[in-house]
Amino acid sequence: MSEHLDAKAVEVLNTNDRGGYTVPTARLYPYQWNWDSAFVALGYGAFDRVRAWTELEYLLEGQWGGGMVPSILFRHNDPDYFPGPSVWQTQSSGQSVPPMPSTGISQPPVLASVMRELVASGDDYDLERAAQMIDQVAGWHEWFQRDRSIDGVVATVHPWETGRDNCPDWEIGLRGMEVDKSLEPYQRKDTEHADPRQRPRQDQYDKFITLVKFARERDWDQRLFSDESPFLMADPGIHFILLRANRDLLELAEQVGNTAAVEKLKPLIATAEQASQQFWDEQLGAFTARNMRTGEFSGGVSNASFLCFYADIGTAAQRQSMMEHFERIQKSVQFLMPSWDPAAEGFDSQRYWCGPVWPQMNYLISQGLAEQGYSQHAQRVKQDLSQLIQQSGFRECFDPLSGEGCLGTEFSWTAAIWLAWASPNKQELAA
Ligand code: GLC
Repeated sequence: MSEHLDAKAVEVLNTNDRGGYTVPTARLYPYQWNWDSAFVALGYGAFDRVRAWTELEYLLEGQWGGGMVPSILFRHNDPDYFPGPSVWQTQSSGQSVPPMPSTGISQPPVLASVMRELVASGDDYDLERAAQMIDQVAGWHEWFQRDRSIDGVVATVHPWETGRDNCPDWEIGLRGMEVDKSLEPYQRKDTEHADPRQRPRQDQYDKFITLVKFARERDWDQRLFSDESPFLMADPGIHFILLRANRDLLELAEQVGNTAAVEKLKPLIATAEQASQQFWDEQLGAFTARNMRTGEFSGGVSNASFLCFYADIGTAAQRQSMMEHFERIQKSVQFLMPSWDPAAEGFDSQRYWCGPVWPQMNYLISQGLAEQGYSQHAQRVKQDLSQLIQQSGFRECFDPLSGEGCLGTEFSWTAAIWLAWASPNKQELAA
């Protein structure tokens, strides 16, 4: 059974390969996505090292002069996708012209951690390829601190930047903003390719597009976008992933003797460690998203909250409290880890980031738990994903109550996480 699935996963990646980069899934997402590509490289790493590094290099080809690596690279124009390059219009931006059409926001920077993972499981070849990328990736991490941070906390100006598009985490930020009255009429495409009941709501979408228009009118000046954006929140996902990525990149830089990068990264790590406490909601006893304009917490535990272990953050009491949430949530679902707390307002087991289990999140959460000594919990998070894939296939995400697959099919990061981690045969394959 799992041999068959291993072969199928390789087939999914090969089918979605567009020659150097891989689309997340054929019709719903026809371009190269940032953190998808990083996870996809892990999957290729299980059977084709050269292809794994090419995926990452293609991603960095889209890096802006200011250091940002965008969430989507539009290497061609696909009329079947909205909002495409003609809506983002980043190429006409004044300051730091992107090398190719792209969005004007970033995504969770898992890239450095994937590089470290490939090096750890590889040989000199992998180290050589990693060495060539370190400066570029360090430049991206610096960009987060320079153009996206508010008093040391890396903020986010768009729910799409967090990769957790319509998680109820963002409601408190979206509530405070208006839909632009002069927004041109537009036609969504996502609801033509997927069940509208599982996709973001229309009122959310109008605000997502309003934010794109807002930044476009400011010439995609990234610092200005962060300073003035009507939506400005801090995401535990980006924060914990970036902190971890900085540490992983530091380790690689030390390994290859890149002292300039080492010196750049050390202060970024210290700042992020300090800023971590800003995510702690004492009342809820959890790390959560926070509105940077008002200081308000989102009020719910998301799967990103559990990345505190992956970032090695939290006092003993905070960790204990997070584990109590873990145990409580575990009792209310069949499969971990739901993207939103079933006991919190806005939970919806099949709507995108309002409840479904996401493969790449389970991978990160489980890794963190294992490293911090919670091996049984880590195992459970892994087993659940493995079972979900075995029973429902390589879907984009899964209903935590029924195990049903949701949204995209033949999904690249699901296949990649299977090959690199969730498959029972993973060890033999990697050898
Ligand atoms: C959705 C997800 C985002 C992902 C993208 C492509 O927008 O929310 O995390 O990167 O699809 O898979």
